[in-house]
Amino acid sequence: MPSFTHLLSAGLLAASAVAFPVQTRKTSVQKRSSSSKLGAAYNDATLVSTLADDASGTVSWSYNWGSSVGGDMPSDVEYVPMLWGSGSDYVSGWTDAVETALSSGSSYILGFNEPDMSSQADMTAATAAALYAEYITPYAGSAKLVSPAVTSSSSSGEGLDWFKSFMSDCSSCNISALAVHWYGDSVDELKTFVEEAIETAADYDISEVWLTEFGLDADTSGISDASTTVSFLEEAVSWLESQSSVARYAFFYCANNYLLTDDAVNSVGGAYMSSSSSSSSTSTSSASSTSSSSSSASSSASSSASSAASSAASSTSTSWSTSSSESSSSESSSTESSSTSDSFSVTWDAKIALLPPIQHS
Ligand code: BGC
Repeated sequence: MPSFTHLLSAGLLAASAVAFPVQTRKTSVQKRSSSSKLGAAYNDATLVSTLADDASGTVSWSYNWGSSVGGDMPSDVEYVPMLWGSGSDYVSGWTDAVETALSSGSSYILGFNEPDMSSQADMTAATAAALYAEYITPYAGSAKLVSPAVTSSSSSGEGLDWFKSFMSDCSSCNISALAVHWYGDSVDELKTFVEEAIETAADYDISEVWLTEFGLDADTSGISDASTTVSFLEEAVSWLESQSSVARYAFFYCANNYLLTDDAVNSVGGAYMSSSSSSSSTSTSSASSTSSSSSSASSSASSSASSAASSAASSTSTSWSTSSSESSSSESSSTESSSTSDSFSVTWDAKIALLPPIQHS
């Protein structure tokens, strides 16, 4: 594993070297009203509206790795709050924030973000289970509960292996969905991993799998070759739509240099949106079928919760666009995707090195 300093400079270099071969696009395709599994993972809420305005597909849900929406969400997009990690800055505002989200229409709650990674929520399964039972399970009567989101790492104690330990410690946690992340090099790899996740979930009588982050290894610091990613998304999204156990998915992510360029949907974003609506979904377990009554848990949602939400709004609407960069990113992305055993941690640590500090409360 490379040193942090190396990663930081490599990450900054990659950020400044990201090229934008992606063109913004306009479309006149009619928006379909069918329920969609497609989500927008975002830091800046205004960009969700931009993506949702693209007429070629429907954004049905969104999340920002935080517990408060952080801006205006289109009325037909369900915001899903997440308790990111165990730190006091995450848990202290959680109750107010989640109750505000539930009273505003959220019907799901997401658990911790990559607790199996030291660079992310970094929790043992036992700690995560205890915190999940304390902070998330109490809302089981008001929302469907999604597991902590684990990575696709196949190392012992990580990925689905971490999830299995977690489930043995959290068997009474009322979990309705398994959340996973995937980064790799091909649609075939994605399918193999998601199929394994579906089987693992079924072992615990969990019928929904959520893919809350996915993308090509080469794109973790921004899209490196738009046409490659467009082809990947066309096939991946069609396949995800065809899987009845995949309830929701979100490409990484709804931000400039990824699904957008200069605050407008680019060709990658267009492929993401149109591939979801052109696929015939066989989903029976999608979020729209939830019968949760969100208001019961939220009677105490108060104005202090709203202020928690608005303070989170200012901290999550981080702008870190590198759209003024001109040079090619091919060197950085090929470095990131070249190794096999190390590529997982390298790309993730490189991604983290790029991130601004974000307050998840
Ligand atoms: C991190 C979040 C961050 C997001 C987008 C995720 O991997 O866990 O904290 O907001 O990336 O940068």
